[in-house]
Amino acid sequence: MNRVYIKTYGCQMNERDSDAVAAMLRARGYRIVQDEEACDIMLLNTCSVRDAAEQKAIGKAGYVSHRKKKNPDFVLGILGCMAQNRGAELLDKLPDVDLIVGTQKFHQVPDYLDNLRAAREAGVPIGETIVDIAEEAGSQNTIRDHLETEERQISAFVSIQQGCNMDCHFCIVPKTRGDERSRPMDDIITECRALAQRGVREITLLGQIVTSYGRRDYAHTGGVSPFVQLIEKVHAIDGIERIRFTSPHPRGFKEDLVEAYGRLPKLCEYVHLPMQSGSNRILKAMNRPYSRERYQEIVDSLRAVRPDMYFSTDIIVGFPGETDEDFEQTRELFEACNYDMAYIFKYSIRTGTPAAVLGDQIADEVKEHRNQVLLDILRRNSERRTAALIGTVEEVLVEGPDKTGQHFTGRTRGNRVTIFDADPRLVGQLVPLRIERASVSTLYGELILAGVGTEAS
Ligand code: SAH
Ligand code: F3S
Repeated sequence: MNRVYIKTYGCQMNERDSDAVAAMLRARGYRIVQDEEACDIMLLNTCSVRDAAEQKAIGKAGYVSHRKKKNPDFVLGILGCMAQNRGAELLDKLPDVDLIVGTQKFHQVPDYLDNLRAAREAGVPIGETIVDIAEEAGSQNTIRDHLETEERQISAFVSIQQGCNMDCHFCIVPKTRGDERSRPMDDIITECRALAQRGVREITLLGQIVTSYGRRDYAHTGGVSPFVQLIEKVHAIDGIERIRFTSPHPRGFKEDLVEAYGRLPKLCEYVHLPMQSGSNRILKAMNRPYSRERYQEIVDSLRAVRPDMYFSTDIIVGFPGETDEDFEQTRELFEACNYDMAYIFKYSIRTGTPAAVLGDQIADEVKEHRNQVLLDILRRNSERRTAALIGTVEEVLVEGPDKTGQHFTGRTRGNRVTIFDADPRLVGQLVPLRIERASVSTLYGELILAGVGTEAS
């Protein structure tokens, strides 16, 4: 009765929230299982950012709820963004769900499951679904425990902030995640130190708009924003070798952050910089407070500080009113930025957002066509960038055995996955790897540490 399977949809924030729920449940004596057939409790941690993501989770929940016919004690819970967005209305489609828990209440999941289990063990008939999607002051401070796996973890996500107040007109996140709330800097640093002591070498700072971190809680000192102050503090922790963050907002790339790339060597030269559109008219309609010229200037200034900078981005094609000329502007800027990676989305109407009520929605075929045009550019770009890596030596952080268990895996500073042979002693170390060949998403190479590269050498 205590085996829990957690399925996560959506972004890294959701992954991190699921990890925190898993850690809390383990501490209560629940077992987290990897096989969904072998669970008594299934929790779906959901995403609302596009309609397709919601439909996927609803489909899964509908399918899984059949298990209740065979086993009335089976517990099905819906957590996270879709729970927050739709609340009790989900019961119209999914009457058998036991638990609906929003984004500020993840820490209550163990109590709710304890209550459900106790009721069932006492033979009390199944009551009403528990629905908790209230706001809770301080809930940003509850996503902090890290995974208690036996295996050493080399790279860890640290949540620094929840919510977003930017009000981009297409985006449901301000509704599902609530107001921007930052964790205290000291708490974050304490967590990062503890992670470093457990062997973590790479920290990714997570939030919906990390560049705004602490803007209401801490002062700029000497022109340095609270976010850059936080990076400086993580940078000073012994044992932490690499720092990444996601997601920033272009607005956050002021002089202090750009300059940080020049003086903080642990800060990896990979920036996810969501562009959304390359048309000034559409950016304005989206309520994105920058122009295509400003965006290009940020990319150029970062490449000036770190010529080997890698960029990735998010693009929405088919925002209401997007003309061929608007899209052409996006295509042009997209090509000019030479991305290493990009997430290209077809605009999806989100009820309750300002863009949902705009006229001039774009036909699906047009969205699909624009999507393909950008994907083609991306493919050519990454083929070119990958080809340029072959024969070079990249610094790789050894994370552990790869999926097959035959080799080892780790990522370059530019966040490319690599596979190579190594000695297990090298796990957690930064090593030089000569890149020898590549598939679409993976680089293969050989360590150039004579004598310690492999057991055989
Ligand atoms: N700051 C957040 C953004 C979350 S949404 C982050 O952590 O990344 C992620 C991306 O989904 C956005 O950058 C945007 O490109 C895309 N997106 C958001 N709303 C969308 C919508 N209604 N339709 C299509 N794509 C959308
Ligand atoms: Fe969404 Fe814009 Fe915030 S994309 S998460 S409202 S910065």
